[in-house]
Amino acid sequence: MPGAVGTVNDIDAQSTPTPKRPLVIAANRLPVALNDDGEWETSPGGLVRALLPIVQESEGAWVGWTGQADSAADIIHTDGIEMHPVPISADEMERYYEGFANDTLWPLYHDAIKESNFDGDDWNAYVAVNERFAVRIANIAPANALVWIHDYHLQLVPAMLRAQRSDVRIGWFNHIPFPPLELFQRLPWRTEIIKGLLGADVLGFQRERGARNFIAAAHQLVDATEVDDNLVNFDGRNVHVGNFPISIDVDEFELLASGRAIRQRTAQIRTRLGDPEVILLGVDRLDYTKGIGARLRAFGRLLDSGRLDPERHVMVQIATPTRQGVELYQEERREIEQIVGEINGVHARLGFPVIHYLHQMLPLGELIPLYRAGDVMLVTPFRDGMNLVAKEYVAAHVDGDGVLVLSEFTGAADELEDALLVNPHDEHTFDDVIVRAVEMHRHERRPRMEAMRKAIESANVSMWARSFMDVLDT
Ligand code: G6P
Repeated sequence: MPGAVGTVNDIDAQSTPTPKRPLVIAANRLPVALNDDGEWETSPGGLVRALLPIVQESEGAWVGWTGQADSAADIIHTDGIEMHPVPISADEMERYYEGFANDTLWPLYHDAIKESNFDGDDWNAYVAVNERFAVRIANIAPANALVWIHDYHLQLVPAMLRAQRSDVRIGWFNHIPFPPLELFQRLPWRTEIIKGLLGADVLGFQRERGARNFIAAAHQLVDATEVDDNLVNFDGRNVHVGNFPISIDVDEFELLASGRAIRQRTAQIRTRLGDPEVILLGVDRLDYTKGIGARLRAFGRLLDSGRLDPERHVMVQIATPTRQGVELYQEERREIEQIVGEINGVHARLGFPVIHYLHQMLPLGELIPLYRAGDVMLVTPFRDGMNLVAKEYVAAHVDGDGVLVLSEFTGAADELEDALLVNPHDEHTFDDVIVRAVEMHRHERRPRMEAMRKAIESANVSMWARSFMDVLDT
């Protein structure tokens, strides 16, 4: 599941809904990982923080993978809930996770910006792992439970589970985009996927257009009919298909971003960067969907042309390591690091790089002052289901300042209309928008930031969970 790149461990049970029935979450990853001392530690991210208390209170459970191949972990009791690891072999990790999920579905669902690999053995592993998840959920879900399945890794689980357990209510939420029919129909197993999803009672998407894309595909491929707004009929059953844009824990971010220690750390960061006039910031998983290379190139062009000045403008790019076993990610890393090297080679001065690049995962305690130090935040993916970094930047700017440059191709662009929206494929406009952001007067910056802060305050991650569960729990 998506989420912040930092670390938060405590859980706020106050702000989350209590379901009437036990809630079982199923996601590719469990919300815990083994730390260096061999202990299970809660994973970072607002989503985990939003869902764990609901599971706790409802005496439910979480079903997922430990993230390690061939792990023999038994039931894990932590954070007051039962976690049920689904074992995945080394071969399945390659074929189901790195292969079908991340080398077939991921590029296809992100506008096919890279070519998908369609491999029958990868598909078979995907089916086998989905079946294992379904069996595990069927075995442990209390009677009449709500089962909430997450993301593109588990699209066959709804129908597989329904075949075994007719008493449970089944929801599925897609954290990434759902592609238009003309792309989706490239998938050799398109009908199986649609039928798998239609086993749910509720299908959730980030954006209205994702829900519309699904309905169009279901109509075309399996003759499902739209009987009402958000209601599709298939095989004699109605399935609710809607959009539920995800958010972050806004209050928590505001709290963590306030106070003297954070102001001091923010000031220290500015000093260490050479006290530039403007700090431009990028924070992403190192993924080719994020458009990191195009963004760095834009920065390089602006330095080349003299529209930006290396003595006054510096860029910080955090690229969190991710999916390093997949070739496309290895290529992307090589390309980004080459661009960073080229630009620094030309424009840096001794002791003063013009791009500060970290291929590291930063803890939240370091990320938040960095957000605060970022005068211009560049969130410019080619396609993104939502993009929570954009919302985190806005939430962290308790000072009411800062400029967000945001790709039109993110789900967040639907809500953050006061960002400077940009098409990252359009080099000329991209350059102009960056210059505009850098030069923006505080009289324009502050009202824009205020409007964006209002937009995210009215929709935090607990409300997102509640809105989905309200539809599921009926
Ligand atoms: C995206 C997906 C999540 C996934 C995350 C990190 O946000 O929607 O399901 O967990 O990326 O990727 P990883 O492959 O490390 O789980």
